[in-house]
Amino acid sequence: MDKIFGFIGAGNMGGALARAAARKLPGSNIVISNRTPEKAAALAEELGARAVSNAEAAVSARYIFLGVKPQMMAALFDEIRPVLDEREEPFVLVSMAAGISEARICELAGRDVPVIRIMPNTPCSVGQGVVLYHMNSLVGEEDARYFLYSMSGAGLFVELAEKLFDAGGAVSGCGPAFVAMFIEALADGGVDCGLPRKTATELAAQTLIGTSKLLMESGKHPGLLKDEVCSPGGSTIEGVLALEDAGFRSAVAGAVIAACSKTKELGK
Ligand SMILES: NC(=O)c1ccc[n+]([C@@H]2O[C@H](COP(=O)([O-])OP(=O)(O)OC[C@H]3O[C@@H](n4cnc5c(N)ncnc54)[C@H](OP(=O)(O)O)[C@@H]3O)[C@@H](O)[C@H]2O)c1
Repeated sequence: MDKIFGFIGAGNMGGALARAAARKLPGSNIVISNRTPEKAAALAEELGARAVSNAEAAVSARYIFLGVKPQMMAALFDEIRPVLDEREEPFVLVSMAAGISEARICELAGRDVPVIRIMPNTPCSVGQGVVLYHMNSLVGEEDARYFLYSMSGAGLFVELAEKLFDAGGAVSGCGPAFVAMFIEALADGGVDCGLPRKTATELAAQTLIGTSKLLMESGKHPGLLKDEVCSPGGSTIEGVLALEDAGFRSAVAGAVIAACSKTKELGK
């Protein structure tokens, strides 16, 4: 039997993950529900999937994605818990909620159930995301394997201990905001030097993509990639030292540390 992927909450992240699923699965294997049903209907039409109620998603899906904001999770469970209690077919809950542990999801479900906790990021919407994941011990091997295959259109899946989710999320979950600021700043410099804005942004963005690819494919340390661009007495080293003067690296590391502590504080 085909395993249905059900997305409850078709917002930014739920929608991005449903689109990722549609890269690997036929639309007929995807169901989508949302508080504002028009949003689920529009996404379902785009993907050739079916728009359903929360209850129907909870009753029919093998993988039930919980795509609501963390503060809405308890209310959502009040709605779907009775449906889950009645189910005879196995299911897996997939939570993307920042700061909500697998144990808390089981508590909300009223019993120990298979849970996959994920922390996706916004580039999942173009298939280039990072998805941190951790599965509790009740997720079977076959369910785990099929999940990873079916969702691989979202980007890179990285398994991480649950206790490191806040740290990982501060890098890859919050990272797109930091990286976007860097691209904007790189382009600002270009504009100040006379480049048209559109060209400057394109150069900056592609330079990030290319450097990242080079780093990942060559396996070289980032410091070495930097050294390779810096000729003695040249322009790049001048720019590198200007960044050092401005505390660039400690500012970026500090942003990650600040984001991580805020996540921990919000999770309390
Ligand atoms: N955005 C990110 O970068 C990011 C990264 C990692 C994890 N996350 C996690 O992803 C989750 C969703 O965040 P988001 O940014 O996608 O938020 P969002 O855009 O606000 O989406 C939330 C969606 O849930 C729907 N919803 C709310 N209550 C519902 C209910 N009871 N039943 C069905 N649908 C319901 C909302 O419907 P309406 O259309 O009626 O508002 C909305 O479409 C959060 O837990 C967040 O922590 C987000």
